[in-house]
Amino acid sequence: MMLTTPILLDYQSSTPCLEDVVNSMSPYWSQIFSNPSSKSNLAGINASAILEVSREKIKEYLFLQKKKLIFTSGATESNNLALLGFARNYYKETEKYGHIITLKTEHKAVLEPLDQLRKEGFDVTEIRPEKDGLISKEKFISCIREDTFLVSIMMANNEIGVIQPLQEISEICRLREITLHSDCAQCLGFLELDKLDSIANMITISSHKIYGPKGVGLLLIDREIELQPLILGGGQEFGLRSGTLPLPLIVGFTKAIEIAVLNQKKNIQKFLFQRNILLKGLLVNNSGLEINGSMKERLPHNLNLTVLDVNGSKLHKSLKSKIICSSGSACSNGEPSHVLLALGRSFKEAEASLRLSIGLMTTTEDIEKSIQIITDSIKSIR
Ligand SMILES: Cc1ncc(COP(=O)(O)O)c(C=O)c1O
Repeated sequence: MMLTTPILLDYQSSTPCLEDVVNSMSPYWSQIFSNPSSKSNLAGINASAILEVSREKIKEYLFLQKKKLIFTSGATESNNLALLGFARNYYKETEKYGHIITLKTEHKAVLEPLDQLRKEGFDVTEIRPEKDGLISKEKFISCIREDTFLVSIMMANNEIGVIQPLQEISEICRLREITLHSDCAQCLGFLELDKLDSIANMITISSHKIYGPKGVGLLLIDREIELQPLILGGGQEFGLRSGTLPLPLIVGFTKAIEIAVLNQKKNIQKFLFQRNILLKGLLVNNSGLEINGSMKERLPHNLNLTVLDVNGSKLHKSLKSKIICSSGSACSNGEPSHVLLALGRSFKEAEASLRLSIGLMTTTEDIEKSIQIITDSIKSIR
């Protein structure tokens, strides 16, 4: 029996390291391996210089002039540091538990730290987005209170790909002197880069979503922002995140950012072209498919569909050996997606949903085969 490798359509959960990224890291495992914090010897000074060159390069690629860059282990840690760190510092300075606003459709790496803050005494409002997944500006304004001091709204959703009107949210927050955090883990390579510096006061990004290594991420913060650190120790990263920095990962992450930015236009065209074929093919061949989230304000490599009148677990079981995709986020532990439930989907519909995300390695043949496989599965179950 010939076993065929399943087609990968789950690039939003993680991406493989590009060859150039792997090559960029190679000297830093066993040749240049010193601790960048060991400034008392030449090898450490050299490692520290490489770290600072990486930081400067990232600033240049992302047009960052106002931001301080804090290396973390990934987007989860960056979100935790931004939210817990900022809110706890706010309490320390004001002795007040203020009000925080977020979206019901944020990643768990935002919702869970906010839940922790709720337990500590802060008040948190989770806004339900509109049916298309986008936040209503009016609803947002109506939730702002005298004591609102922090807002966390993601730039693009990891499940339904919708891109929030962050520029407008940012302007509303700026006028009211409310600090804005945005989880941009899914956005690098798709952003208007020159706006990144000013679009939010704190921004989260992650390496393994952009063909870089796992285990490294960044929190970008406006220079005047003060945070309570979560990890205490040697005082690395401006005292905000102690611990020896993983130089190979940071060099690889820097390379991945460089490549993502350089190829942004070309990649967007490819993704749009392939997603169009995928969407059209699925809609023409199947009845009862409904798109989740706005198609207009959306990442070019994401598609999320609910298949009506189909048992979700049968659908996923039937696709399992042929297509790697997901019904929700990679971190949802098999529960129905809280994002789809927030959009008004029932449990049954949320389970019978497919998140298909296209990657750099996806070929048009993969897309055509996937249309056939998904169509056959739906027909056989119905
Ligand atoms: C929007 C968003 N935020 C946070 C995370 C967590 O990222 P990391 O795996 O880098 O901790 C993810 C990963 O799925 C994500 O998509």
